[in-house]
Amino acid sequence: MFTRAIRLNLAACLFTSALLASPIPAADALTDADKTKVCGEMATLFRAARAVISDNQELIDDAAKGDKGLTGAVVAAKTREKFQKMAGQPLPDGDSGGKLAAEARAAMLASIDDVMTANQNWINEQGKGFKGFLPAVFAKMLADSFSKKMSGRMAIKLTAPKSLVRNRANRPDEWEAKVMDTVFAAANYPRGKEFAEQAAHKQGRGWRLIVPEYYGQSCLKCHGEPKGQRDITGGLMEGGKLDQLGGAVSVVLFD
Ligand code: HEC
Repeated sequence: MFTRAIRLNLAACLFTSALLASPIPAADALTDADKTKVCGEMATLFRAARAVISDNQELIDDAAKGDKGLTGAVVAAKTREKFQKMAGQPLPDGDSGGKLAAEARAAMLASIDDVMTANQNWINEQGKGFKGFLPAVFAKMLADSFSKKMSGRMAIKLTAPKSLVRNRANRPDEWEAKVMDTVFAAANYPRGKEFAEQAAHKQGRGWRLIVPEYYGQSCLKCHGEPKGQRDITGGLMEGGKLDQLGGAVSVVLFD
């Protein structure tokens, strides 16, 4: 009995050391460049999905039409097309870019499907024009769903400079505010370029990436002048100007 126990223990030890000696899978040892790539891909996919809702705003607000055909599957497929246009390459498939990248892609696509599926009644209400189903409203739900699915490993958020933010839940944290107010605000900062670094986050440290966005003409009917007047949504306009930094997509990959 005794010898048998020792032999078993020895076998267990050999097994453990064999595991420790095996090479660490690449996904567990992401370089800063890898992390930037995973976060950047998620920011682009998220922005692509929001752009699909923006492209379909007239359809969504068509009072005469009931079923808009914007199912989860349709919006996910359109998001892939949009991603390809924005990124200049198709959304990678399978484990390309590592396990975490694949998981994050799957979580974002599933979240698009979930959010659209959950809101079919809202979108398909006939006899009502403007419904309040806006790109930013969709983006908030998408961000929350993605962050929940990636439970503590990754999170995404749409935010804006403090002076412009409308939904309090989108307020920038200290790091986001600092990057927007200093890095992005610098006169010589390249337009549209993302910024990434290792930084603190209320849920723990991680690799943080943030992509700036600017007001285009179409944004100003809600976010523009005259400041304080109500827009079509009933909210107060921010007095934003054309090409002004209007918001940012913020992604974190936790340590
Ligand atoms: C029809 C009105 C309307 C238009 C057009 C519009 N927005 Fe918004 N935007 C809103 C509303 C309302 C919210 C708050 C959404 C919420 O409650 O979560 C918002 C939120 C945002 C946010 C999130 C931060 C915050 O303030 O809560 C950003 C960033 C943003 N908009 C940028 C843009 C940009 C850039 C455009 C143009 C491409 C645009 N918006 C066009 C109405 C609009």
